[in-house]
Amino acid sequence: MTTTPLSPASPSLIATLPGHYYTDPEVFRQEQRHVFEAMWFCAVRGADLDRPGAFRTVQVGRESVLVTRTRAGELRAFLNICRHRGARLCTQESGQVRRGLQCPYHAWTYDLDGRLVAAPNLTKMPDVDRSAYGLVAVALREWLGYAWVCLADTPPSFEETVMGAAVERLGDAAAIERYGTERLALGRRMTYDVRANWKLIVENFMECYHCATIHPELTDVLPEFADGYAAQYYVGHGAEFGEEVKGFTVDGSEGFGRLPEVANDQDRRYYAVTIKPTVFVNLVPDHVILHRMFPLAEDRTVVECDWLYAPEVVASGADVSKSVELFHRVNTQDFEACERTQPAMASRAYRSGGVLVPTEHHIGIFHEWLLERLGGRDDRDLSP
Ligand code: FES
Ligand code: FE
Repeated sequence: MTTTPLSPASPSLIATLPGHYYTDPEVFRQEQRHVFEAMWFCAVRGADLDRPGAFRTVQVGRESVLVTRTRAGELRAFLNICRHRGARLCTQESGQVRRGLQCPYHAWTYDLDGRLVAAPNLTKMPDVDRSAYGLVAVALREWLGYAWVCLADTPPSFEETVMGAAVERLGDAAAIERYGTERLALGRRMTYDVRANWKLIVENFMECYHCATIHPELTDVLPEFADGYAAQYYVGHGAEFGEEVKGFTVDGSEGFGRLPEVANDQDRRYYAVTIKPTVFVNLVPDHVILHRMFPLAEDRTVVECDWLYAPEVVASGADVSKSVELFHRVNTQDFEACERTQPAMASRAYRSGGVLVPTEHHIGIFHEWLLERLGGRDDRDLSP
């Protein structure tokens, strides 16, 4: 195994963010503005909206965003706000409409492309130019089978900020494409309501110093994780399955056939990619696990985790529970650790933060990135 830390020049220990970054509603508000509303945000799995008229609403920063499947079969995103007097248009998290989206307040109706198509007595309102009052569109891109939305007036390059993360981690643009994630079928979805700040979840995912302590099943399958070296951070390096391990399952038993385009050097390996700010992708030869976070408050993050398999595996009714159980346990162990940490962030003991050991130094790079996004403000030395 090759393990070359990418931050050899770092001091042996570096500081974390101080506790108030995880508890202060004002910091969270700044993150909503400068992170979630400014970057590409993975909102919806495209196949969840499988028919024209299907919609889903998601919270992106301070906005509710509505994603629809149009009559032409395309995905569209809008601010979920009626242009009349501002009522929230769709109050359900998901649903299916036949004709269009009707506001529950005065019944203005929009089609799935966001056009205002009907309103009570509209013909008697010549002063209302209906073309001027369509829903406000939100930028949308599809990748890996998911709709990514961006609320920025000028969205950043999708190729650089989203796809680039996979290239940076896996060393080559084709590596993630070989899993054919957009063609896979949903085998299982689990939703975790985590009482912790979103950054604790990112930081936890980025390091494997905790693996030996809290992930017995994972370290059985990936023995090299037991030494605390985060495969998450070594470019191109996937963690190798243990010799006795047959598949990425809770007991190391056989999984399913390798996805067709996965290369020989990707076989029997696990790769993890963090796509900032809210997505983690885990790649193993026979399935893909994709986590999407929805940060709802400074101390609450909903995580939706999808287990994706070859369509024929799901269609055959095969039992996926052994592979689901492995990462479900990992998720539960990780989120419990994050929830144990969250209340401590408000303690005097963490007023100036903690320390990062060498195998966690890349978390310091994440902190630098965050501080830069928040406008270069670094008040780590200020005691709140
Ligand atoms: Fe939507 Fe009046 S606020 S129709
Ligand atoms: Fe973990």
